[in-house]
Amino acid sequence: MKYYIHTYGCQMNVHDSEKIAGILEELNYSSCDDVKDADVVVFNTCCIRETSEKKIYGHIGQLKKLKKAKKDMIIVVCGCMSQQDGVPAKIRESFPYVDIILGTSNLGELKSAILDAKHKRKYTNTNFCIYQEEEFNQLRTSYPNAWVNINYGCNNFCTYCIVPYVRGRERSREMSAIVKEVEQLVSDGYKEITLLGQNVNSYGKDLQNGENFAQLLHQLGKIPGKFRLRFMTSHPKDLSEEVIDAVAMYPNICNNIHLPVQSGSTEILRRMNRRYTREKYIDCINMIKSKLPDVGITTDIMIGFPGETEQDFLDTLDLVERAKYSSAFCFVYSRRKGTPADTMPDQIPDDVKKDRITRLIATQNKVTREISKQMTGKVYEILVEGTNPKYDGVVCGRTESGRLVNFKGDETLIGKFVNVKIEKSASATLWGSITTEEK
Ligand code: SAH
Ligand code: SF4
Ligand code: F3S
Repeated sequence: MKYYIHTYGCQMNVHDSEKIAGILEELNYSSCDDVKDADVVVFNTCCIRETSEKKIYGHIGQLKKLKKAKKDMIIVVCGCMSQQDGVPAKIRESFPYVDIILGTSNLGELKSAILDAKHKRKYTNTNFCIYQEEEFNQLRTSYPNAWVNINYGCNNFCTYCIVPYVRGRERSREMSAIVKEVEQLVSDGYKEITLLGQNVNSYGKDLQNGENFAQLLHQLGKIPGKFRLRFMTSHPKDLSEEVIDAVAMYPNICNNIHLPVQSGSTEILRRMNRRYTREKYIDCINMIKSKLPDVGITTDIMIGFPGETEQDFLDTLDLVERAKYSSAFCFVYSRRKGTPADTMPDQIPDDVKKDRITRLIATQNKVTREISKQMTGKVYEILVEGTNPKYDGVVCGRTESGRLVNFKGDETLIGKFVNVKIEKSASATLWGSITTEEK
């Protein structure tokens, strides 16, 4: 018996899919790479932008034929899209062959729902519930990296964003449980631990025991052994100096901060409900750079928010040049039903959005090229992540700051730290060669 999981969206979903895979393995299913071979098909969905949703509906539609040919196939739709108001009903109506619909917090019900589906009983539940990570025997799929949830949900309600509606209110895991999980992963041989939260900086607020993200980093930084610790995402409104001091203090914690700016215009930021100004954001970047030499700062930027003027957009471009991000995820604003921005006046026409996204990407590419040039000729420690599927005999890995580097090597290097001299750069990717291998 085989299962096939298609994961859409962000790292939260990638990690949730590892929990789903764990459940299916316990039911004696094994994974396969082709949906046609699967007895259970899982779509772990995302609804952050309209494009993601459209794609997923298309993919669910394509399953109709397969299910007709293979009547016992079990189809599961879970994740953020199925958590949205009205979506389960829409799926039931338009795609009656879907067996199981689960919300973002209902993974614990998957096992019994699959057993039900074997008896042709359909199951839907998207009511929020609280689960403990420890309930799941995760099947980790991203060695040498391991994902670790530290908090779930979001209380920020940025006016464009669907996440607070589909992931629920902020909830932090107990610090002792996180420390235990990370210690176990390090002793199991994982070399990179990535802490996950929509806003890691608000870790602990809901625990009301005075614990916070900086304290968590101190606990994790003290864990012995050679490994890297990363975290995402940091919200600029509450990234504290204490957090950056902790990053600076422990060699295991990477000098790499993902700090989404969204816009360089204070007026747009106000209407996005981001709760910082352009000036405060720049101060934050300067604080980070003064405390962390060689830091890689990455970001998310959105263009085309309702009412964005050419001047607002130029302010964003100017900020991109000043911040010198090592990379940036650039998005076109997408209207999401039920969010305040959806009903704001002055929605931006598509042709203007297209023009702005092109100019934004060109500006960031120029910045990335400048940084790549400065890195050329220098030696960096790289954690080898895998082989490069495009080139034979080439592996890739990241610098501490998060830049991807390609160099000659084979799969025996995966999970090892090597020193690599950067020789040339092609757009965002760097090329180099190993100088000394880890003993
Ligand atoms: N919690 C993270 C972001 C999660 S969503 C944070 O606050 O930074 C990832 C990114 O998707 C966001 O940073 C934003 O840039 C983008 N995004 C969110 N909603 C969007 C929308 N309606 N249209 C376009 N991009 C969006
Ligand atoms: Fe969305 Fe804002 Fe929460 Fe990030 S902080 S998930 S952008 S509401
Ligand atoms: Fe992530 Fe998409 Fe959900 S970005 S939190 S999977 S809406």
